[in-house]
Amino acid sequence: MKMQRVGRLYAVGLLVLALAVSYGNLNLQKGKKEKEISYSKDVFPIIKKYCLICHSLENDHPSELFLDTYEDMMNESRHGKAILPGEAEKSPFYQKLLSPPPFGRQMPPSRKIKLTPEQIELLRVWINQGAKNN
Ligand code: HEC
Repeated sequence: MKMQRVGRLYAVGLLVLALAVSYGNLNLQKGKKEKEISYSKDVFPIIKKYCLICHSLENDHPSELFLDTYEDMMNESRHGKAILPGEAEKSPFYQKLLSPPPFGRQMPPSRKIKLTPEQIELLRVWINQGAKNN
């Protein structure tokens, strides 16, 4: 009788250990894999809200930068390609969100309307993940 109980306790112990190990592995995998940013779900809503009032076909599109569609934004504007996939730090699209920008004004050029650091980081990561049309 007593031996059976010890056996059962042992089995439960092993099960808990196995669960703990697999949970740990899952967490490690999550930590390793960066979340993939989506152009349509994450990036475009920011552009639509903060950039299209100027950078669209219908509006002024200063510096010939059109952000209406993915294809448009990958074309050249006055300073060449605004987005260099995989190289956010060299992409005017990202550089212009920082203060000070490499030329002209910080985007969006308004004292009241600013992107949050989280939004800027999201755009940086999207470009460095290859600026995919996903
Ligand atoms: C109120 C109008 C306005 C808004 C809103 C705006 N921009 Fe601009 N943008 C400009 C003007 C004007 C210029 C040209 C002068 C300059 O470079 O500062 C410009 C230039 C740029 C350039 C440089 C293009 C080149 O090749 O010279 C980039 C990149 C850019 N904007 C990105 C953005 C992004 C990204 C957003 C949204 C987060 C945005 N802009 C929002 C007015 C705007």
